[in-house]
Amino acid sequence: MVNDGTSSALVADILVLVKNNVVLFLVLLVLSRCIYHRYFHPLSKYPGPLACSCTRLWKAWSVYNGHTELDFIDLHRKYGSIVRVAPNELSFASPKAAHDILAPGNGFTKTEFYKAFPPKHAPDIFTETREWKHAAMKRVAVVPYSLASVQKMSPWIEDVQNEFIAKIGEYADSGRVCDLGDLLHYFAFDVIGEFAFSQRYGFVAQERDIGGTIKLIDNVQWYDGIVGQVPELRHVLRESPVFQYLLTLLSPPQVTQMALGEIAKRKKNKTDGFFLEPERRDLLGQLMEGSARDPGKFSEMDVFSVAHGAIGAGADSTASTMQSFFHFILSNPEIHRKLSEEIRGAHLSPNVTWAEAQDLPYFQACLLEAMRLRPAVGLSIPRYVPKGGAMIDGTNYPGGIVASINGWAVHRDALFGDNVDQFRPERWLSGDVRDMKKHMYQFGGGGHLCIGRNLAQFEMNKIIPQLLENFDFELVYPGRPVKSHSTFFVVQSGLEVFVRRRK
Ligand code: HEM
Ligand SMILES: *[C@@H]1O[C@H](CO)[C@@H](O)[C@H](O)[C@H]1NC(C)=O
Ligand SMILES: *[C@@H]1O[C@H](CO)[C@@H](O)[C@H](O)[C@H]1NC(C)=O
Repeated sequence: MVNDGTSSALVADILVLVKNNVVLFLVLLVLSRCIYHRYFHPLSKYPGPLACSCTRLWKAWSVYNGHTELDFIDLHRKYGSIVRVAPNELSFASPKAAHDILAPGNGFTKTEFYKAFPPKHAPDIFTETREWKHAAMKRVAVVPYSLASVQKMSPWIEDVQNEFIAKIGEYADSGRVCDLGDLLHYFAFDVIGEFAFSQRYGFVAQERDIGGTIKLIDNVQWYDGIVGQVPELRHVLRESPVFQYLLTLLSPPQVTQMALGEIAKRKKNKTDGFFLEPERRDLLGQLMEGSARDPGKFSEMDVFSVAHGAIGAGADSTASTMQSFFHFILSNPEIHRKLSEEIRGAHLSPNVTWAEAQDLPYFQACLLEAMRLRPAVGLSIPRYVPKGGAMIDGTNYPGGIVASINGWAVHRDALFGDNVDQFRPERWLSGDVRDMKKHMYQFGGGGHLCIGRNLAQFEMNKIIPQLLENFDFELVYPGRPVKSHSTFFVVQSGLEVFVRRRK
């Protein structure tokens, strides 16, 4: 080419210009990207803050601050039911939209957000983004997580329950202030230990966060929640050698080691099957059975990741829900009185059964109302719209964008009646509530509906009535809200109570 010389001279000139004005060029670059995103991008017609339309850093900042759920409620109150929360992401607050986004078989898929969460080399049911692989794992895991299977584990769950009741009794007898929130967290952890591994971790007995496990899980999920907002960062921040080195400085949580140890032990003892006792059909044993049946579809690695996933997903979530429940009840004397009356008039068995709890309509309404107002997941649940685009709540959206829902915002829709910010269990007890029930997303929905919900519901339905049957509780600091910080889950503290025995 004749003008080769001139064009390379031009390139050189430009490079020199850039080099001498690096800052200026970076500013121009960011600004022009921002202008493009704000005014020319396919999503530019949707309302939202300027910062959100330019960068995902707004979301990362929100997660860093720990109150994403409140930020999203505010956004939707200000901008309406569809808000552009990142250049390529719309948040939907209408229950119908949430239903469409999560509907099974609709072609929507989990986003890179989930890849920020461990374990990196062995995705579990929560973190696996390939739908086919997710479905294969879930097919094996739904059996041990079924209500029937959970119910068969009741003797061991009840054991934890009774240890917990005895522990609360000690507080009643001594008159000491009881941190019910922390104890409920320990309880949820010990239940997971029994259900998944036939192990008693001893959080309740020792009344402490053994090995700092809960703290570690919360910190990792907080960090990953932030990284998950800008998933490319995970290559730098999570998977980089520096981060991996930092991780080794923290010793792996004791519970991970216990899980690995338990698998090794059971493998050695093959002749006895996969269980410690034949009747004690825990999660790990059933997963090992599933793997033995078809190792090609469900490998030994899958056994570990799925069983281990229960630790990260099962304790914070259930604890947060029970803490919210108690805080609401103890903050509303009239509701507290009605609930206690129902429970104490029901002549429950000493180990309250699942069936008995289902026959307590006011209790069920209180539990639903707690999960409506303070669902345990505080971050938004994001999905890619399938390639060819898709309908959400009657409108077509382009493929490849992210559609997300935040339970805290969706659960405040007018569908749920008047005064949606108010804790009012009565809203579940009159009129036709089927549509309201159908649009509760505290457990997510569709093909990714929480697999642990039967376990969570089972333990909450047994322990909460049993506590209210046996004790009177009173807040030490009435009127003070619970302290909360959202990682993926809404992690709460500050539920100190006085306890008195009833019998
Ligand atoms: C009240 C307690 C619980 C709440 C509120 C809750 C909430 C949720 C939510 C909202 C999701 C959907 C997340 C998403 O799509 O990104 C989910 C999924 C999941 N939960 Fe739970 N959860 C609870 C208890 C549990 C327990 C006890 C376990 C296990 C022992 C568990 C294991 C899982 C798993 C493995 C998934 C992924 C499911 C999938 O993608 O197919 N959860 N949970
Ligand atoms: C309650 O459950 C525990 C554990 O299964 C059991 O040891 C205890 O006998 C039960 N109590 C009653 C009164 O049935
Ligand atoms: C193997 O099973 C036997 C019989 O149930 C039991 O006594 C033994 O402790 C088990 N060994 C291990 C390593 O769990």
